[in-house]
Amino acid sequence: MTKKWIMLASAFLFTTAFLTGAARFAAEDAPISISEVMKEAMKGGLNKKVASGEASAEEKDRLLVLFKGLAENEPPEGDLESWKAKTEALVNAAEAAVKGADDAPAMLKSAANCKACHDAHRP
Ligand code: HEC
Repeated sequence: MTKKWIMLASAFLFTTAFLTGAARFAAEDAPISISEVMKEAMKGGLNKKVASGEASAEEKDRLLVLFKGLAENEPPEGDLESWKAKTEALVNAAEAAVKGADDAPAMLKSAANCKACHDAHRP
């Protein structure tokens, strides 16, 4: 009888812990992969559109979300410090675009240097 109660109690505790963890995970934004950012922001042209000054406020916000997501990734290749510097420059540029800063287009263009980053960090 006691054994049964212990088992029930531990099953209950396990379920509660699991659900709490799952809820916490769902509440946070799902992580964004490097590949997603490349497809949507780089190859997809969102970065270019924002740099051209023709993007809507939603598009600028989306670019910032993508670049922040990119910065949270670890580079598949190359030095972590270099990756941080490059992705931080992208985040700063997207933040400047969201704020409507005059130098945002220039910042975006120089930060989104495809070749420099691919040479250093693309496997
Ligand atoms: C801050 C660094 C960085 C910058 C800037 C960057 N890339 Fe990338 N890109 C990467 C990395 C790292 C990968 C490899 C991802 C992997 O294999 O996990 C990649 C992969 C890609 C891919 C393949 C994605 C896939 O999985 O299908 C494309 C396409 C791409 N980049 C386009 C571009 C273009 C176009 C630009 C410039 C406008 C650009 N990237 C700028 C880091 C960067």
